Amino acid sequence: MQLSPFKLERFFAKYEFNTEFLLCSSDCESVSIADLLAMEEGAAGKFQNVWLGYTESLGSPTLRKEISGMYSTTQPEDVLVFTGANEAIYLFMMAALKENDHIIVHAPHYQALSEVAKGIGCMVSPWRAREENAWGLDMDELRHLMRPSTKAIIVNLPHNPTGYLMPRSDFDDLNKFVQENGLLLFSDEVYRESEYDLADRLPAAVDYGPHAVSLGVTSKTYGLAGLRIGWIATKNRDLYSKISSLKDYTTICNSAPSEFLAELAMRNRTKLAERNLQIIKNNLTVMDEFFARNSSLFTWHRPKAGSMGFPKLLTGDIETFCDDLVKKAGVLLLPGSMYDETNNHFRLGLGRKNLPQAVERLEDYLSTSSIYNRKK
Ligand SMILES: Cc1ncc(COP(=O)(O)O)c(C=O)c1O
Repeated sequence: MQLSPFKLERFFAKYEFNTEFLLCSSDCESVSIADLLAMEEGAAGKFQNVWLGYTESLGSPTLRKEISGMYSTTQPEDVLVFTGANEAIYLFMMAALKENDHIIVHAPHYQALSEVAKGIGCMVSPWRAREENAWGLDMDELRHLMRPSTKAIIVNLPHNPTGYLMPRSDFDDLNKFVQENGLLLFSDEVYRESEYDLADRLPAAVDYGPHAVSLGVTSKTYGLAGLRIGWIATKNRDLYSKISSLKDYTTICNSAPSEFLAELAMRNRTKLAERNLQIIKNNLTVMDEFFARNSSLFTWHRPKAGSMGFPKLLTGDIETFCDDLVKKAGVLLLPGSMYDETNNHFRLGLGRKNLPQAVERLEDYLSTSSIYNRKK
């Protein structure tokens, strides 16, 4: 199997640990192990006694029980735990797809959501988010993308990088469509529980039936990327068993300390999510003001959920802009070309506490740059 380089990961590898302001991170502000342990009395002592042998391949039963409680209809045996969400994506594709199968993928997207399928030899059709429709997806377009060889539809809601959230009625229709056509729905829900308005939260795909797989992770909404704990929830027993048996060839089982900490985090996930949502909401106010002040330079659609937005630069070339900005001002933005988007968009991260300082630095840069310093 041939996999092309993961553009976004290669980009971050260059800048993530040597740049002062990461203004394009997808994850929320993290905490220390000490902060997490302090969320429950007695947790620090228990953590000292975590046994460092191999762990259960499917994930510890108590962690799976905690995760299954996030959904309406699942049992612990419907949950399979991985080292991050990325391992789950990889193994889902390996288990569900074969050469010449066709899949339809919400686009633009996190590259793994199509790249692994391409590596297997599948045909991939993008189901395009339309900026003119506030990054919405059109169900009629989906119907036109169908082929006899279509096996799966892959969506990411809330969406990386636009923060789009589908209306409930469309998500109901999508699930019905997948069921009626005998397909699989892989629903990447790693930004779930970060909706700005609770009324917008979609049901998890797994709760619609065995045609669906829901993907979750501790990294994003809960800000615990360093745990590297992700999971799928599905009632599709055949698929579950295929994926779990492939895991023997990747990580076999998860890190014992991470499973302990992930279970603690999932028990306290509402508190972790609320804290990060507060950071995002404060940052959104800063960004609304910034975009209002700089409306001749940028356009953007305010996201509905998650820790990202996808504004557009109206002057110059986005790659040159990002490159110059990081070199001169130490502020990292992610050009849309990392998602194969060529319309001058860039990813803006909303989940980090230092966003106001980063935006100040960005505005200083704009005011001193001859290209961007125009009368507003
Ligand atoms: C949509 C989406 N899915 C999956 C992942 C992978 O998550 P993790 O890095 O925690 O494995 C990411 C990470 O950025 C993502 O944005």
